[in-house]
Amino acid sequence: MENKLSIEKISLPLIKDNRGFLVFAESEKHIPFKIKRVFYIGGVEKDGCRGFHANKKNKNILFCIQGSAVIKFDNGKEKVEIFLNEPNMGVLINNKIWHSMENFSKDLIMLVFSSEFYDESDYIRDYKEYIKYIK
Ligand code: TYD
Repeated sequence: MENKLSIEKISLPLIKDNRGFLVFAESEKHIPFKIKRVFYIGGVEKDGCRGFHANKKNKNILFCIQGSAVIKFDNGKEKVEIFLNEPNMGVLINNKIWHSMENFSKDLIMLVFSSEFYDESDYIRDYKEYIKYIK
């Protein structure tokens, strides 16, 4: 099993002018996989949390396009976390990584690009099962 848990940040182009800002992302260019799915999260409670699962195959890239959150990663040996609070600064969640999104700001809108279509059988939602899976 791989020990090193490195965080890959994804920085998208941000165009700012007197009308505000615009951020864009192109599949397989700024996002290092073919985007098959997009979802977004909002209406959260301050200090709310989500996630607490790993995916067998799917990879996600998360952006806090409004507000902020802490993203926590765990590969069964190491834990790392990152604070996201810029609309163009995202983070890759690789497959086989246990993760959670926590400490939400109340205004959070989180945008997620995924490498796979939704498939519940790709999820591991029990931490003990995750540890068995990665061994
Ligand atoms: P869930 O995995 O619990 O969200 P989170 O990762 O933020 O904790 O998903 C909530 C519900 O939405 C669950 O019933 C599965 C469903 N869902 C889809 O149908 N398609 C999707 O792309 C996603 C991400 C979730």
